[in-house]
Amino acid sequence: MAKIKTIGILTSGGDAPGMNAAIRAVTRAGIYNGFDIKAVYRGYDGLITNDIRPFTTENVSGIIGQGGTILKTARSKEFATEEGRKKAYDNLVAAGIDALVVIGGNGSLTGAMKIAQEFDICCIGLPGTIDNDLYGTDNTIGYDTTMNTIVECVDRIRDTAQSHERIFFVEVMGRDAGFLAQNSAIASGAEAAIIPEDSTDVDQLARFMERGIRKSKRSCIVIVSESPKCGAMYYADRVRKEFPDYDVRVSILGHLQRGGRPSARDRILASRTGVGAVEAIMQGQRNIMVGVRNNEVVYVPLSEAIRSDKPFDRKLIKVLDELSI
Ligand code: F6P
Repeated sequence: MAKIKTIGILTSGGDAPGMNAAIRAVTRAGIYNGFDIKAVYRGYDGLITNDIRPFTTENVSGIIGQGGTILKTARSKEFATEEGRKKAYDNLVAAGIDALVVIGGNGSLTGAMKIAQEFDICCIGLPGTIDNDLYGTDNTIGYDTTMNTIVECVDRIRDTAQSHERIFFVEVMGRDAGFLAQNSAIASGAEAAIIPEDSTDVDQLARFMERGIRKSKRSCIVIVSESPKCGAMYYADRVRKEFPDYDVRVSILGHLQRGGRPSARDRILASRTGVGAVEAIMQGQRNIMVGVRNNEVVYVPLSEAIRSDKPFDRKLIKVLDELSI
């Protein structure tokens, strides 16, 4: 295998707080260890359009605390095609990039795995998504910050919910995973969470209403995982029809969950995994994601990282149930 001299970095998919800290870590650790760094702008689209620029340590000064991504990001349709990936590979070769670090979520790491399989290029993934749905790492970069943002929002919603004695359905992001919903519900003292991991087993709304929504409380907050069909609006409409005595409101938190300064935890996770990515390259690792499990930096094959069945600890459901009486 030829010696790696130049590392490319890109961010892809939904931005997540802490991505900048990860860009900084890969850039600085790369330069420290003698690599050249090239930044790819606008995710995989930038690889296809050749939006690639040399990066120095100054390029990443002062960004550790900034939300979003200074490299911009995109959900590239063209990269999903074989022709798109060929163009991207040709531009990687022309730029002299022999290892590519991709910071992103499930779709982005799937893209990294594909280009690595089709062409002779070393790809290293960093888990950058608020959804926390990547397998093999306890947390993803951005998850902790988003959780804190949700909790702050719910604290505010509780003030008005209590004042008016209303039921609030608060919809949070997470795509197909309920990590954000379940844990933010516990952290904000919400009365219930409706999550995809539980949706096939029970009618979660019925279970919650049967438990006695207002046994001891005159207002309540239900955190609902986003879903195209069964989001917060769906449950609010059901309560309006099935329990017309209740005064119901919906709050969809939306993209404000993705913005903001990254928490200390996310900055540390980004810094550790960024340094881990450069170490992995030096060790000759290929096509892995760098994560942290049980406080240890770990390398997870990309094919495993993108598995859709990251374990969800069902004891969390019990914790919320018991504490929301
Ligand atoms: O994957 C991150 C995420 O924020 C999901 O939670 C959400 O479903 C999706 O991205 C929204 O994507 P977009 O910003 O492209 O609408």
